[in-house]
Amino acid sequence: MFLCTTCWDFNRCIITCILFLNLFSTSSVCYKPVVLVHGIFDKSYSLYSLMDRIGEKHPGTHVTLLDKLHGWKSMAPVWFQVKSFKKLLAPIMEENPGGINMIGFSQGGLVARALIESTNKHNVHTFISLSSPQYGQYGDDFLRIFFPGYVKESAWRFFYSKPGQMTSVGNYWRDPHHLDTFLNYSHFLPEVNNEVTTPDTIKYKRNFLKLQRLVLIGGPDDGVISPWQSSHFGVFDENEQVIPMQNTRVYKNDTFGLRTLDKQCKIVTITIPGIHHLDWHRNVSVIDDYIIPYLD
Ligand SMILES: *[C@@H]1O[C@H](CO)[C@@H](O)[C@H](O)[C@H]1NC(C)=O
Ligand SMILES: *[C@@H]1O[C@H](CO)[C@@H](O)[C@H](O)[C@H]1NC(C)=O
Ligand SMILES: *[C@@H]1O[C@H](CO)[C@@H](O)[C@H](O)[C@H]1NC(C)=O
Repeated sequence: MFLCTTCWDFNRCIITCILFLNLFSTSSVCYKPVVLVHGIFDKSYSLYSLMDRIGEKHPGTHVTLLDKLHGWKSMAPVWFQVKSFKKLLAPIMEENPGGINMIGFSQGGLVARALIESTNKHNVHTFISLSSPQYGQYGDDFLRIFFPGYVKESAWRFFYSKPGQMTSVGNYWRDPHHLDTFLNYSHFLPEVNNEVTTPDTIKYKRNFLKLQRLVLIGGPDDGVISPWQSSHFGVFDENEQVIPMQNTRVYKNDTFGLRTLDKQCKIVTITIPGIHHLDWHRNVSVIDDYIIPYLD
């Protein structure tokens, strides 16, 4: 389902590409380089199928996996990860003044958003958030996998503590029954959402608004992201009912630019049923139909 599609740029790019092909008969003139940010507990090769498919469909595209913080290291605090990835990202941006595209999978989508918001003069054109808990995570399925022994009702006691904040999950665990404590103690999500004021509040919004396109992909059969609508900036209210993006606080108050981007028709929201969390980046039809078309 496409809620808001801006393919104007894409069409123009295709025309330019055909012109170039005629003139120089060379391919791959017009695809921006792609940077991939992995999810939690991945292996270094997890995103290879996605990389390979982009290469097959868009020959010559330079695809880089930010190859760091795999396995248990992906549990490090998100800001630490952002700092660490930034060192890999900076030279890629510099070498490609024409801009790059970025894909973040799962937790990697949050890391990618923070990279974008915290990098002045970033040149990310399109950011594809692939089943990422953009508005936080609250659910037992996820805990069973990553924190066995914890239940959602009481996990906040650990996550909203000093040791809990030393884990990435604690940084975006959003317990709708303890929102005040979340806003007080979480050192990541309330900051990039500009739900709390930090010295960087203005900068985050300014940088986020430099995106030309934001593609939010998720689906009801994900099984890990909870609520799954968090992949579309939906969030639980205090009764654990999902508030859709347009009715959320960060959207209504345009805290970090979500409403502005949407009004500019730069947000594409895609819902795909039948995809489990671990299949998003390796299901060929997801890649071909919903990712490749946005990598211009
Ligand atoms: C949040 O922090 C403020 C100031 O430090 C404190 O007064 C308040 O009790 C805290 N609230 C919660 C729910 O922790
Ligand atoms: C939006 O911001 C205004 C001013 O900062 C505040 O008074 C209001 O409560 C906010 N609205 C929401 C829905 O958070
Ligand atoms: C990929 O996802 C589609 C649903 O969009 C599904 O029909 C198909 O079976 C999946 N393919 C594989 C190889 O899992």
